[in-house]
Amino acid sequence: ETKHDLVGKRILITGGGTREPLDPVRFIGNRSSGKQAVALAQRAMQRSADVTLIAAHLEVEPPAGVDLVTVSTAAQMHSEVMTLSPEFDIVIMAAAVSDYRLDTVSGSKLKKVDNGGELHLTLVENPDILKELSSSKSAKQLIIGFAAETATEDDLIRIGKDKIARKGCDLLILNQVGWDQGFGTESNTVSVLASGGDILITATGSKMSVADTILDCIATPPIHNA
Ligand code: C5P
Repeated sequence: ETKHDLVGKRILITGGGTREPLDPVRFIGNRSSGKQAVALAQRAMQRSADVTLIAAHLEVEPPAGVDLVTVSTAAQMHSEVMTLSPEFDIVIMAAAVSDYRLDTVSGSKLKKVDNGGELHLTLVENPDILKELSSSKSAKQLIIGFAAETATEDDLIRIGKDKIARKGCDLLILNQVGWDQGFGTESNTVSVLASGGDILITATGSKMSVADTILDCIATPPIHNA
């Protein structure tokens, strides 16, 4: 039976993969399907939260009835998150945001004949939305980040502890990804890290059940800092 333990909570969730255009027809992207974010949005709504989903590119349908904001690039994601987040109690950044964008986007399709056998692209860093949000959040907001890593299990925890300290978020969801793991799959294994670096819980299961585990960590004290 579904608990309605998120009643009155306003939750902003980002999901899917951002795309950085090279020209009008090409982009650099990633293999995030958005399934975990959509499962989080769905379960949070079922647990009576007020949910807005900022969706980059999704391979699945967003939950029926969710407040949906669609974006494509990291810059658009950045602008929507910074504009909308002050109205929310909890922000869950499950999107796979491109760390880089093209320094110049060609206004017309890039042509092989112009490039003599090699195409050199220059990428510049995108703003780190999670880091910026964590440093500007209000005291009663809870910010949750994700870390999708190809590292082995031991390295994963070490990288996670380092990342949560660097980003400054309240919780970090550690997620092993690979060619056939994490992105796009039906099930998932995650560890939830607290800001001090402690592992609160490790869970494996469908993305729906993993979503519930993550929402349990948010709904239940002592982690909630309201
Ligand atoms: O540094 P890394 O990309 O591994 O961090 C992952 C976390 O940071 C995710 O929660 C992702 O949504 C967020 N992120 C961000 N802005 C970026 C890159 C990642 O907010 N430019």
